[in-house]
Amino acid sequence: MSATRTVRIAPSILTADFGRLAEQVQAAEAGGADLFHLDVMDGHFVPQLSFGPEVVAAVRAATSLPIEVHMMVAQPAAHFAAFAAAGAQTLLFHVEATADASAALAAAHATGCRAGVAVSPGTPVERLAPLLGALDQVVIMLVHPGRGGQTMLDAHLDKVPQLRALLAAAGRDVPIELDGGVKAENAARCAAAGADILVAGSAVYNDRATPAAALAQLRSALAPAD
Ligand code: DX5
Ligand code: ZN
Repeated sequence: MSATRTVRIAPSILTADFGRLAEQVQAAEAGGADLFHLDVMDGHFVPQLSFGPEVVAAVRAATSLPIEVHMMVAQPAAHFAAFAAAGAQTLLFHVEATADASAALAAAHATGCRAGVAVSPGTPVERLAPLLGALDQVVIMLVHPGRGGQTMLDAHLDKVPQLRALLAAAGRDVPIELDGGVKAENAARCAAAGADILVAGSAVYNDRATPAAALAQLRSALAPAD
């Protein structure tokens, strides 16, 4: 079924050493990361604070890989231009954060970026039905947004085939990304569910292995078993 699908790995820097950010980013790039997933939190949509466009610009300066910004913020459209200017290629905002997600997608596209939405664990994928024609990507959250290092709520893997069916019925083929709790132990299940991109935060940036070694472990977990 998914034998020919290439799953991309998107490290999240949330648990990286920010004192050595450029080095940490370059270590993941050298280790085979496909893109970077940058988690922005505003203290409103989620209680936590993380970072803003300045850190995105610092990552941009450290790598030539694509950057996506996962905006866990209450007013995403107010910040699209700043993240685009900082060097993001893809703007991802929460469907729960905006009353008019279609307008927000149009505003994100107006910056020249790709645009997509994220759905928190409590949100059914049917909520995306009116947006299917305008999305470039969907993020299915497998943890409640706010912190790295949480355990995957793996019952929500069922949303991948559900969303794939909705997209197919609308004639769309867009990447589905899984975010939260991805590890070498569950990466194959994520791929089997039909994911195109796996976010890996604490699986890549931790005090047990280098980013390159951790990425190699994830890759081998995804390699076809033959
Ligand atoms: C959660 C973030 C995730 C997460 C990834 O709010 O959106 O991107 O921190 O980290 P791990 O892989 O450690 O769950
Ligand atoms: Zn994220």
